[in-house]
Amino acid sequence: MRVSVVGVGYVGLVVSACLAAWGHRVTGIEADGERLAALRRGELPFHEPGLAELVGAGNHEGRLDFGSDARLVSASDVVFIAVGTHDASGRWQTDSLVRALQQIVPLIRDDAALAIRSTLPPGVVRDVDGLVSRIRAAAGLPGISVLLNPEFTREGSAVGDFFRPDRVVIGVVRDPDEHGVSLVRALYQTVDAPIVVTSAANAAMIKLGSNLFLATKISFANELAGACEALGASIDEVVAGMAFDPRIGGSFMRPGVGFGGSCLPHQVRMTVLEMAALDVPMPQLAATDDTNQRQPHRFVAQLVAHLGGLARQRIGLLGLAFKPDTDDLREAPALTIAKLLLDEGATVVAYDPMERARRTAQSLLPRLRTRERTSEVFDNADAVGLVTEWPEFTALDWPALAERMRGRLVVDGRNALNPDDVASAGLTYVGFGRPVRSPERGAGVVELRGHDGTPVVPADHEIAAVS
Ligand code: UDX
Repeated sequence: MRVSVVGVGYVGLVVSACLAAWGHRVTGIEADGERLAALRRGELPFHEPGLAELVGAGNHEGRLDFGSDARLVSASDVVFIAVGTHDASGRWQTDSLVRALQQIVPLIRDDAALAIRSTLPPGVVRDVDGLVSRIRAAAGLPGISVLLNPEFTREGSAVGDFFRPDRVVIGVVRDPDEHGVSLVRALYQTVDAPIVVTSAANAAMIKLGSNLFLATKISFANELAGACEALGASIDEVVAGMAFDPRIGGSFMRPGVGFGGSCLPHQVRMTVLEMAALDVPMPQLAATDDTNQRQPHRFVAQLVAHLGGLARQRIGLLGLAFKPDTDDLREAPALTIAKLLLDEGATVVAYDPMERARRTAQSLLPRLRTRERTSEVFDNADAVGLVTEWPEFTALDWPALAERMRGRLVVDGRNALNPDDVASAGLTYVGFGRPVRSPERGAGVVELRGHDGTPVVPADHEIAAVS
């Protein structure tokens, strides 16, 4: 089939490259001249595992190309819109969407389908039909099929998520003879997953509800971790035990410095605001946001509690991106943490494997010192904190790195490190909801601390196992 994708940012480029890999003939349409030129050179504007290879193969085999001319959509059976729908401050913005619709809707073939891939604010879903119909009528054209096809891909695993989705959701805005649904179904014919065809309002809420639930799960795990710390339980074992119940499951239950990225924080906050405007209170979702915003402060509080203050302390940070396998710093907890530490007078030295993440962080926080190697973060550090669980950080040579430090503290903001490895290098390990491991007290003996880092049980409290 012939497909156009309007807007080849993160979402649009994944759709374009993956559909091309399935054998469809795809044209990505991009207004940003710099991005377009880079894509034509085979350079991606962000890091996403496997995507550059797919774009390269698509270009090479003639199934994927890029252009700026909106008229390119007129050859397509399905036209995707994948423009951004929120602004730099994390608020909804639909100007780009409306502009894109005004430009391309008159150019879409009468028998083609328009599929909106961008995440829409729920309130806007209702307006799409009228907007598209007015644009078509003003151009003297008949109506077209209009659908929502929300994405559920995660950064860092977007290609795999696209090829092997849990479900494909198609929301019908307007599709009187179901012609549009059959076109979009045909695009996904090789997918081994349920295809959910439903109303546009339901499709938008399936997308939103999924992200809100995932965010809530993480905040719940973070609250539970706080309770575990106070009560002498270990969150790893608690979650493992809970996860045997299939109604609960163990995924998205890893506590730490909180959820970041372009989707979860923004959608939680915006839904609370949007629903408040409709007189629908969402106290639980507001608490999800509140808990999440506390997590970077909890990380900093652990440093303060163990170091006795931050002024003139040298803190090393491992990781800057909001999660591994991306160079995305949007709503990255690392930025909040670095700023809090700098404001308290600490020197902050950070490393992330992604050069682009280091560069962006440096420009956003000029006082931050970025380094090009993991080991440099440890040099003369009073404490080192892990903020992004890049796999390379989970296999560090702790005894060698401990020697480079002047202090003895490691705070694991993602519960990604093995406390035994850290403690056996002579360092004190502090995680989230995990017992503190102090080397001088020996393996298996822990000192438990409350939220503010103060001890809450006798220091010789024994634990059964720390994984
Ligand atoms: C999310 C949704 O997962 C995806 O389905 C949707 O299409 C886009 O939004 P993404 O933002 O890429 O994907 O990342 P995700 O894997 O959901 O992680 C979001 C944040 O939550 C990260 O900062 C991650 O570190 C954090 N997280 C995740 C936790 O703190 N604990 C967990 O248990 C899981």
